[in-house]
Amino acid sequence: MTIRPVPPDPNHNYTNSALRTGDVDPYPQRQVGEFIGTVVANKWVNKEYKHVILKVHPHALKAYAGQMFHLLCPSPDGAEVWMRRPMSVYRVDKDAGHIEFLYKCEGRGTRGMAMLEPGDDFNVTGPLGHGFVLEPSWRNVVVLGRGVGLATLAPLSQLAAENKIGVTAILSARHPDVVMSRDLFEGLGAKTMTVLDSDGTSAVDNVEKILEGLIAHGKADAFFTCGSNRLLKLMQRLGKKHNIPGQVAMEQIMVCGFGACYVCMRTFEVDGQRLLRRVCRDGPVFNLQEAVGW
Ligand code: FES
Repeated sequence: MTIRPVPPDPNHNYTNSALRTGDVDPYPQRQVGEFIGTVVANKWVNKEYKHVILKVHPHALKAYAGQMFHLLCPSPDGAEVWMRRPMSVYRVDKDAGHIEFLYKCEGRGTRGMAMLEPGDDFNVTGPLGHGFVLEPSWRNVVVLGRGVGLATLAPLSQLAAENKIGVTAILSARHPDVVMSRDLFEGLGAKTMTVLDSDGTSAVDNVEKILEGLIAHGKADAFFTCGSNRLLKLMQRLGKKHNIPGQVAMEQIMVCGFGACYVCMRTFEVDGQRLLRRVCRDGPVFNLQEAVGW
C-alpha cells in the first residue's frame, strides 16, 4: 500500500489561535504561546546555513539563552511537513522586537524554512524549555561548541555581556567557511578562538591544551558546550579534574516540544543512578556532569 502525504487544507485556518505582532495578549502571565512572526530577513551566511530574523509579538521576546521555539516550517515541495521543528533561539533583539534563528538547511523542514521571504508569516511556539543559567560569582566562562551547536551557545554571549561576565568562545568547525557565530560572539565582547578539522587544530588533544591554558589563567569559572559528543566528554573530564561547573545544551529529535509525548527522552546519570529525562521540558540545558553522551 502506498501512503500518500496529505496536502494542507486551504480552507482550514491553521493559525487562528496564534498572536500576531500588535495583538493584545489575553494571557500575559503564560510562559509559552503560539505566535505568527513576520519574516524580516532570511539570508545565507555560508553554503550550508541561513539566518532568519522574525518580527514577533512581545511575549516571544521573553526567550532567553538556551531556550527554543517549535517552528511550523512551510513545505519545500507541496507535501505536508509532519510535526514542528525545535530550534534554539540565536538572538533576541528586544529593541527591534525580533527573534533570530541560525539553521542548517538539510532536512525538509529547514529546506522549507529556507524558502521564507521578507513579509511572509511564520508560526512559532515558545519559548520552551530551560536555558542557560549564569551564577553571579562567575567572572569568566568558556564556551566550546561545534557546528550548529554554536548557534545555540551564541546567545550566552548576550547574557554574559548583560551580567558583565567575560566569555572565551572556542569555535570548532570542519573548515573555515562553516565557522558559525564568530561575529555575534565578538560583537558582544567575547574572545574567540577557531579550531578546525582542515588543519588538525580541532583534535581533542589540542582543544584540551587550550582549555588547560584558560584554566591556568583563571578564565574558566564555568564551562558551556553544545554540538559534539567528544567535546562534551572532554569538558566533563576537565570539569571533574579542576572542579569546574558546567552546562550542556542537548540536541534531540522532538515531537510535542512541551513534555507530553516522551519522544525526546535521554539518559542522565545523577548520584550514580541512571535516569531518563525529557530534553524538551527538563532541558534542553542540563548539568554538564549529569549528561550521558551519545
Ligand atoms: Fe514530547 Fe519532549 S518532545 S516530551
